[in-house]
Amino acid sequence: MFAVYATAPNPEDPLASLVVGERPEPEPPDGWVKVSVRAASLNMHDLWTLRGVGIKPDQFPMILGCDGAGTLADGSEVVIHPLIGTPGWTGDEALDPGLTILTEKHQGTLADAVIVPSRNVLPKPKSLSFAEAACLGTAWLTAYRMIFTRSGLRPGQTMLVQGASGGVSTALIQLGAAAGMRVWVTGRSETKRALATEVGAHETFESGARLPERVDAVFETVGAATWSHSMKSLKRGGIIVCSGATTGPNPGADLQRLFYLQLRVVGSTMGTREELASLISFMDVAGLRPQIGMELPTAEAAKGFRLMLAGETAGKIVFVR
Ligand SMILES: NC(=O)c1ccc[n+]([C@@H]2O[C@H](COP(=O)([O-])OP(=O)(O)OC[C@H]3O[C@@H](n4cnc5c(N)ncnc54)[C@H](OP(=O)(O)O)[C@@H]3O)[C@@H](O)[C@H]2O)c1
Repeated sequence: MFAVYATAPNPEDPLASLVVGERPEPEPPDGWVKVSVRAASLNMHDLWTLRGVGIKPDQFPMILGCDGAGTLADGSEVVIHPLIGTPGWTGDEALDPGLTILTEKHQGTLADAVIVPSRNVLPKPKSLSFAEAACLGTAWLTAYRMIFTRSGLRPGQTMLVQGASGGVSTALIQLGAAAGMRVWVTGRSETKRALATEVGAHETFESGARLPERVDAVFETVGAATWSHSMKSLKRGGIIVCSGATTGPNPGADLQRLFYLQLRVVGSTMGTREELASLISFMDVAGLRPQIGMELPTAEAAKGFRLMLAGETAGKIVFVR
């Protein structure tokens, strides 16, 4: 079948390992289903996979794509939940020690078809297109859990989102604004800040700019480049929710500020099936639609990967069949 895959880990030149070609069509074992993929979205996770981060060398070749939406054999339209857990695990799925995300051990969604456990498909609402539904499983689910499960923020409080135009950033802005937060955003260019305003930010700032006042929570996926600003931007008792470290994982900790101002730093990764179901329902009820910066035929996937590597995003990049 047609597939976009990574041939080998390539930390220096990730795009050199990207192939648009053919891979064997998967057959679902008992308890799994085959989804005919109609749309799949690109995540930074796919660039990490090409670099060999979070995947063992013996797992290559690996079909890329954590997220997707498509149809089952009976024609029903579904959204894919990309977390494959340990059979029998009953706690919070995002805390399952055996947890893997599609493309770590199991083949991904950038293909004609993908197989997943049957509990990993949820009904696609009619209000979302396949391209829009394909944005939910990773970036949007991560943003949902960061705000609604991990931050403890209440409507009316102020949240700062570091980064304006990324998949997780735009999801944080749209979800935060829809839930009644005051949403402030930093962005690296005028164009990116204008996009943030368009999707719901109440105020935008240059990266690292001094804010008019301190905020209740900061949402971090950027890491080293913005961490010190995130720490300085918090009120006493404020919280940083971090789900990524694109620019580097080891920023200065600023421990004096941490203990004196009684700040909290919490991690967040992906989200549970139940959180995805709530996200889908929220999108439907609130009439939210993910910001898509670019839709491309899957055969032109390499162009989308190049743009993400260059930081030229305007929301999600989606590949459609
Ligand atoms: N833990 C999880 O479950 C999880 C899930 C999803 C994503 N992530 C991680 O979150 C990160 C973002 O993923 P994504 O898919 O949203 O990527 P993306 O669409 O490429 O977005 C990248 C974002 O990072 C910002 N950025 C990059 N370099 C920057 C710099 N030097 N200074 C300031 N901002 C910078 C960009 O801001 P501008 O708009 O200003 O350019 C943009 O908002 C990745 O590291 C990814 O691995 C983790």
